[in-house]
Amino acid sequence: MDLPQTMRVVEITEPGGPDVLVAATRPLPVPGPGEVLIRVEAAGVNRPDVFQRQGGYPPPPGASDLPGLEVAGTIAALGPDVTGWRVGDAVCALLAGGGYADYATAPAPQCLPLPEGLDMVQAASLPETVFTVWTNVFERGGLLPGESLLVHGGTSGIGSIAIQLAKALGSIVYATAGGPEKAKACEALGADRGIDYRNEDFVAVIKEVTGKRGVNVVLDMVGGDYLPRNIDCLAPDGRHVTIAFLRGPKAEINLTPIMLKRLTLTGSTLRARSVAQKGALAQAIQQHVWPLIAVGKVRPVIHATFPLEQAASAHRLMESSGHIGKIVLTL
Ligand SMILES: NC(=O)c1ccc[n+]([C@@H]2O[C@H](COP(=O)([O-])OP(=O)(O)OC[C@H]3O[C@@H](n4cnc5c(N)ncnc54)[C@H](OP(=O)(O)O)[C@@H]3O)[C@@H](O)[C@H]2O)c1
Repeated sequence: MDLPQTMRVVEITEPGGPDVLVAATRPLPVPGPGEVLIRVEAAGVNRPDVFQRQGGYPPPPGASDLPGLEVAGTIAALGPDVTGWRVGDAVCALLAGGGYADYATAPAPQCLPLPEGLDMVQAASLPETVFTVWTNVFERGGLLPGESLLVHGGTSGIGSIAIQLAKALGSIVYATAGGPEKAKACEALGADRGIDYRNEDFVAVIKEVTGKRGVNVVLDMVGGDYLPRNIDCLAPDGRHVTIAFLRGPKAEINLTPIMLKRLTLTGSTLRARSVAQKGALAQAIQQHVWPLIAVGKVRPVIHATFPLEQAASAHRLMESSGHIGKIVLTL
């Protein structure tokens, strides 16, 4: 494949608002040992990209300074020591950065074949959310079929996949979201009960729908004052999984219910984990999640697409929280 010398990118010129995302031209990245070069056709936008743009979520050492944690496209070149992939293969990939560009490098183990029946935009919307949901809800949270899950931010990119995946694997799912329309959207995604947190007390609703027992797992991206309320929502032996803290990293909690209900408080971040860990996750996802996507039990929810050059508009939409599902850049 003939490769150009340079590529279009969107870079973060300085920490700040959406307008610091500026189109530029850069040399193509060179795939290192064990890496592939992907010609990007679509790149998912995630809330962590917004935090990075604001200066609060720096790329890990060695990662591209460009935003973009997930892409779909075709493999354009192989670095040394890559097995299992060929030039021309259609893939989606989890990145530690660099997705807002015509070309991006990815460790080969973090690439997955396009799920059957999906286009590039749909495929690009998956890696960051599916990896995050799989490792947090099912590995750390240990959600089992027949158990119940409370997802906050049910219409977020993460929430829309968490609801569908947990339902597809046989769990009962409750999801919070801001406003009646979003609560209904959670139910359309499969939630047994969408909770409009602006007009309903989610703790009271969870107690009512579970006959006061509570849920087995809470997936939390809100933090702050949600912590004691989440703990209130957990059943004996419940697991609380933190993936973000949109309302702040500090919380005051009563330790008594942790002992009395034998609760587990855990959490994780995806970006900083090793290639080996992400590769193991990719294999589990290909085995357990890709077949559910192929039969339509789990579908990417695409709210909007923007051309790469309009990344600032994509970020503005994300920060307005007006979206349901994912926002994707096209190239
Ligand atoms: N730990 C990890 O490995 C990891 C990986 C990826 C993402 N994340 C985190 O997961 C979260 C979701 O990511 P995403 O890309 O799916 O984001 P997203 O689509 O932008 O969704 C975030 C949602 O959070 C809700 N929200 C915003 N501010 C809030 C607040 N102050 N209180 C309560 N809810 C609020 C909004 O929905 P409503 O309108 O319903 O409020 C919004 O739609 C982000 O915080 C992100 O940083 C963590």
